Amino acid sequence: MYSPIGVFDSGYGGLTVLKEICRELPEYDLLYLGDNARTPYGTRSFRVVYEYTLQAVEYLFSQNCPLVILACNTASAKALRNIQQRALPRMVPGLRVLGVIRPSVEMVAGITRNGRVGVLGTPGTIGSLSYPIELEKWAGGKVKSTVQEACPMWVPLVENNELHSAGTDYFVEKHIRALLLKDPLIDTVILGCTHYPLLIDTIRKYLPGTITLVDQGPVVALKLKEYLTRHPEIDNR
Ligand code: DGL
Repeated sequence: MYSPIGVFDSGYGGLTVLKEICRELPEYDLLYLGDNARTPYGTRSFRVVYEYTLQAVEYLFSQNCPLVILACNTASAKALRNIQQRALPRMVPGLRVLGVIRPSVEMVAGITRNGRVGVLGTPGTIGSLSYPIELEKWAGGKVKSTVQEACPMWVPLVENNELHSAGTDYFVEKHIRALLLKDPLIDTVILGCTHYPLLIDTIRKYLPGTITLVDQGPVVALKLKEYLTRHPEIDNR
């Protein structure tokens, strides 16, 4: 039976994750839903992000997806826990929803050498404090300090196809500079929004080459592969 793995994002950003899942798991069927009509989510309240994300998850379940990946940090930060704890128990048993924050945090533990980490994300993700909290919990004591920077303009610039404009350059430099001012010694930066890999060339231009950038696509794809190995019942190949 056709039972694809659902991949959801507020817009185009999740395609950066989808591409890597396709590469890592070419034998699986995937169904992508991007809510371009209501993007961005990054400046919306907890309640609205929860409602929109739940609608998307219910839609993907209605399309026979047994598992939905929230390939959106904002949705992972502001809706995942409530969906898992409040909504899923009222649905058909066995349906699952996973996010992108925990896999990214686990990966960072193996990357940082000095334990000083920076996070770039939407105002929603940054304001939720999900990254500092999860880094503290799941990075095995490897992360000593986390600084964050919200980049409210980056997603609208990507969604409006302004990847290479002078305005994009300005806003990328501004937020990278602000992040580095908070801690000039960070050695690892998490791109905590799935839209940001689309700005990677500009980000690299302003970030010192000694800093490792964590792009979530490959990380999430690898962790999903491990998850599917542990859960052979979700086999849609
Ligand atoms: N791409 C999404 C994320 O990873 C959110 C973008 C938005 O809609 O603000 O956070």
